[in-house]
Amino acid sequence: MVKICDSQDLQERGLAFRFNIKERAAIALRYGGQVYAYYNECAHVPIELDFNPGDVFDLSRQFLICSTHGAYYDPTNGLCLGGPCSGRSLHRLTVIEKDNAVWLLEESNS
Ligand code: FES
Repeated sequence: MVKICDSQDLQERGLAFRFNIKERAAIALRYGGQVYAYYNECAHVPIELDFNPGDVFDLSRQFLICSTHGAYYDPTNGLCLGGPCSGRSLHRLTVIEKDNAVWLLEESNS
């Protein structure tokens, strides 16, 4: 189990926390009180979602959005709901929140 950040680093629908795992960029975020993490690689072209560091929510704060071509994703499962990679998904990482911190457990298959 690897610590990613403190719980207070993730505000509801706020800036994502950027980190690296296995030399790949990743993000952790809070949505609906839950924490989620993904590799920071768009399902369209594997480049980082955020142009401004951590700024991954769209204006409605309902979806994650890629700053390059505007693909938008469900924050709870990484599924692309619209844009050039509709139907594909971000690569999700398994995280838990415990002892006022966010921890990476392992990669899931989704
Ligand atoms: S690189 Fe993300 S939508 Fe094209």
